Amino acid sequence: MITKNTKIEDIVKMDDRMMDFFNENKIDYCCNGYMTVAEVAKSKNKDEDTLKNSIEKQLDILRQDKKTDSKISIDDFKKLSVEEIIESITNEHHETERAMLFEIDKILNKILKVHFKNHGEELLKLHKMFGELKTELEEHFVKEEMITFPLMIENKNPSPEVIKKIEELESDHEKAGDIIKKMISLTDSFTVPQDGCKTYEKTFKELDTLTKDIFVHIFKENSILFLKFKK
Ligand SMILES: [Fe+2]
Ligand SMILES: [Fe+2]
Repeated sequence: MITKNTKIEDIVKMDDRMMDFFNENKIDYCCNGYMTVAEVAKSKNKDEDTLKNSIEKQLDILRQDKKTDSKISIDDFKKLSVEEIIESITNEHHETERAMLFEIDKILNKILKVHFKNHGEELLKLHKMFGELKTELEEHFVKEEMITFPLMIENKNPSPEVIKKIEELESDHEKAGDIIKKMISLTDSFTVPQDGCKTYEKTFKELDTLTKDIFVHIFKENSILFLKFKK
């Protein structure tokens, strides 16, 4: 049952297909997953009951549609140990996102040049934001893999030192999340302009896939891995 005090991250844990619903409604379930339905409604100047009802309605629809093609399966993921979660995140998200960042970097640079005349203003901003995101994430992944994740595996009981490292990661997540939100708003959720070519389409499609994957990734770290470790 959902109340106005239910946290957004807990709704995703009930049914991970709610991630799509939250993405469509621009509700941040990863960096701000700790916010309650009422808090989100307030931040968006929306009515609490309307938001609560629309979430319940969507959960009902999903409940009736038991068939799930979601490969995320947060339900199984929650049950893994800290070591297993770390391994899964590294293999599933870090490696995939590194490859996507590398690929998008090339094609974004290509459309920047080809479509500069008609879309230069937007593409220059997007190119800069993407560059910041790429640097942020590549450095963040390596910090997790080389410093914080090994510390978490070695120290079963959370020491103040490890907690501090985790807080640094959470603040990196917020930075990355903010850049992504700006990219989404700049491009109207990666909508390709009418005169956009195939490469334009591919770039925006890949950006959409990448950013959604990052949201899932951050959710798994903030709302499952870090919470589990701190317990
Ligand atoms: Fe990560
Ligand atoms: Fe992270």
